[in-house]
Amino acid sequence: MNQLLGEIERLKQEKDAVILAHYYVEDRVKTAADYVGDSYYLARLATELPQRTIVLCGVTFMGESVKLLNPDKTVLMPDLSAGCPMAEMYDLAEIRRLKGEVADLAVVCYVNSTLELKGQSDVCVTSANAVKVVRGMPQRNIYFVPDENLGGFVAQQVPEKQFILHNGSCCVHTGIRTADLEQARRDYPNAEVLSHPECRPEILALSDYIGSTSGILKRAGESTASELIICTEMGILDELKRSCPDKTFVFPGERVCASMKKVTLEKIREVLRGGSNEIRITDGNTEQAAATLERMLLLAN
Ligand code: 13P
Ligand code: SF4
Repeated sequence: MNQLLGEIERLKQEKDAVILAHYYVEDRVKTAADYVGDSYYLARLATELPQRTIVLCGVTFMGESVKLLNPDKTVLMPDLSAGCPMAEMYDLAEIRRLKGEVADLAVVCYVNSTLELKGQSDVCVTSANAVKVVRGMPQRNIYFVPDENLGGFVAQQVPEKQFILHNGSCCVHTGIRTADLEQARRDYPNAEVLSHPECRPEILALSDYIGSTSGILKRAGESTASELIICTEMGILDELKRSCPDKTFVFPGERVCASMKKVTLEKIREVLRGGSNEIRITDGNTEQAAATLERMLLLAN
């Protein structure tokens, strides 16, 4: 392990590379990362880094976002097959129909989306900035795609706008069932419940706090509760234990994102050695897709 980490460090210097990792990847992968964060943090940070090569440890939409925002840089992914199934959940014909039929409409896509969907949208959001970005859009009507749970949460926070939601969702987060949460609440009656907005509405209704992965981490640190029930992917457990060593964390359903776990230290070494798995964007939607991300950065600031 130490030899492997040493080799990655040497290759990073040699190739002028920086490693970014999402909270959900394996903890040993995070030990090699220069920066760890949520999808918004990683996308924003990538525009501020001096290195010529960025290794993105996460799922493919994250690598594509980094490439769209930094077209002159080399973006490598340890495993190009690490996709987010929700990113594919949309219907272009439906989007075109709504654009034709609904006046004063903005198509708002979650960053967990394909390049094609970003290219058909007016703005992109992440769970960390969705409420602020949607509020900042001038249109009164919002078509939110693909995540209906995040969309529903945003709709509650922004009652002055009308929402149409596409019915996509994340199988990891929707796998957390009310029965799992109720059991955890019986076991830890004084615990605070912190949830990611990709969870089902019935889970969100039982939560004390709803926010992105970094929002959950921040709230866990600030909370006076010593026991916390966390409704999201289990990858943030190590981070939570590091920042709050005296608190107890319970994960109803113990959900794991298989795609995020495809990233390994060996694969990082491999792409750094040979420059393989480079994100190349040749799609006709590139310009508009990049514009949706740039608008997000502008409105979220
Ligand atoms: P964050 O934006 O909170 O990092 O979440 C990304 C994600 O894929 C959650 O499932
Ligand atoms: Fe996609 Fe869900 Fe995995 Fe996040 S946790 S990357 S939304 S499948």
